[in-house]
Amino acid sequence: MERYKQVFENNKAWVGQKLSHDPEYFVKLAAGQSPDFLYIGCADSRIPANEIMGLEPGEVFVHRNIANLVVNTDLNAHSVIEYAVEHLRVKHVIVCGHYGCGGVNAAMTSQDLGLLNPWLREIRDVYRLHRKELDAIEDATARAKRLVELNVQEQCIHVIKTACVQKRYLKEGYPIVHGWVFDLHDGLLKDLDIPFEGILANIREIYRLEV
Ligand code: CO
Repeated sequence: MERYKQVFENNKAWVGQKLSHDPEYFVKLAAGQSPDFLYIGCADSRIPANEIMGLEPGEVFVHRNIANLVVNTDLNAHSVIEYAVEHLRVKHVIVCGHYGCGGVNAAMTSQDLGLLNPWLREIRDVYRLHRKELDAIEDATARAKRLVELNVQEQCIHVIKTACVQKRYLKEGYPIVHGWVFDLHDGLLKDLDIPFEGILANIREIYRLEV
């Protein structure tokens, strides 16, 4: 069968499987969502957020784009963050990168990629901010891996800069922002242990927005 048609067969099988475990499954699903997590990850097809986190539909609010960027003027990403933090009241915001990221690798070459240039320039900016550390890594693969980690860290900082995160955290102790990296070679998630409180205190010297 054509792959396209197969998807609808897969969907029916999935519905049947869910209903066999719980006849009320879709009644509950339609009633609303209250996820604890906002996941911001790469659009790469190999990294399905729910699956790698072992979470069911309704348990994680998801935003994905090339190289898991949180660009300051990206209305799309910031609408997702605002809605998740202010309205869904998620407790954890995760920026998840992955080793071998095509976007990060592309940003390390001099290839002109047209419309993708300004998007990938965000990653070049991360490189510039951490140039000393990155230039000191001789092995190209190791350097790319470190850039993946530093990119996640910088995107976390972009999340922490937002008024909704600053205000709600100071009032309620949530959300906490985390940086993760997914490794395609073993399927494991690595917590980069981003020092959330330290970053928040530090950036508030410049990005402070009053409660
Ligand atoms: Co990627």
